Amino acid sequence: MFDSAATTKPLPMIDPFGRSIDYLRVSVTDRCDFRCVYCMSENMAFLPKKDLLTLEELDRLCSAFIAKGVRKLRLTGGEPLVRKDVMTLFRSLSRHLDRGALDELTVTTNGSQLARHAADLAACGVRRINVSLDTLDPAKFRAVTRWGDLDAVLRGIDAALAAGIHVKINAVALRGVNEAEIEGLVAWAHGKGMDISFIEVMPLGDIEPSRLEQYLPLSLVRARLAERWTLSESEHRTGGPARYVEVAETGGRIGFITPMTHNFCESCNRVRITCTGTLYMCLGQDDAADLRAPLRASEADDLLSDAIDRAIARKPRGHDFVIDRRTRQPAVSRHMSMTGG
Ligand code: 5AD
Ligand code: SF4
Repeated sequence: MFDSAATTKPLPMIDPFGRSIDYLRVSVTDRCDFRCVYCMSENMAFLPKKDLLTLEELDRLCSAFIAKGVRKLRLTGGEPLVRKDVMTLFRSLSRHLDRGALDELTVTTNGSQLARHAADLAACGVRRINVSLDTLDPAKFRAVTRWGDLDAVLRGIDAALAAGIHVKINAVALRGVNEAEIEGLVAWAHGKGMDISFIEVMPLGDIEPSRLEQYLPLSLVRARLAERWTLSESEHRTGGPARYVEVAETGGRIGFITPMTHNFCESCNRVRITCTGTLYMCLGQDDAADLRAPLRASEADDLLSDAIDRAIARKPRGHDFVIDRRTRQPAVSRHMSMTGG
């Protein structure tokens, strides 16, 4: 039913705070071939494969959201490109781009599998991707990701650029880890024509090192960057929480994603689904709605559509993240790899 040409645009979903929800992030797997120290614990228990939605079910879920006004879709993980046959899902979702119901189909990836998928992604209408990369030092990269191979990621980035995809680098600012390398990362990204965003570490899920050890406020990072370069506020927006500055000397942009030092929830436009079909209305809250049961209960989408409406009607105002000496518990117990950033 969603394949018929859209004649009128569906109205976007509106939450209790008047925010339009037109952006859906879908975690297609909770697994990952890395174990980044701020994201996962070393011994993660993953969901049994039988609990996952099939690729067909994921397509149906996404399509139901598109019918309800979602215009931007991002596949995330874990690492989305390690899910078996994930390109089948990209290929089928690209029909919504072709018929004008979706403005953007995109992905957040660690880049490890990009070299072999970049051309296919481009062929599916993926125009921009985010690649997570925190350091260009191979030994540090191995230490941060525990399992990752920097060269493979760099080859993946080059393959994406060669396929004509715009790449944005996302780097988590980590105290004492990539702190001294921030300028180098910017110079490298801008030299390749890529924007780069820095992210403050968020208290999601239990991990071995303490968040306090990792946390580096971006106000500090920005002040240091301003000592070397001429930064000016940019109007550039990508539909997310990043606020950008332009760097006069490089012509590139730097984004700052500051969940800790500046709460941006007032302009939140997104919800997230896990690979088991649980809808989280906020990255930093526990409230969730199961969409798998209504999805499976009927071949028509009425039950699903009602469940989505009920969930959006209770989207919370925002998160309550804190990282300090007194707060030992993470804000929520699930790791980022469940709800995909
Ligand atoms: N805080 C901030 N960013 C995180 N990421 C994973 N876990 C966290 C966290 N606790 C980042 C990854 C990737 C994106 C999906 O989220 O580095 O860039
Ligand atoms: Fe994997 Fe991304 Fe988490 Fe690193 S941050 S472990 S690459 S999901």
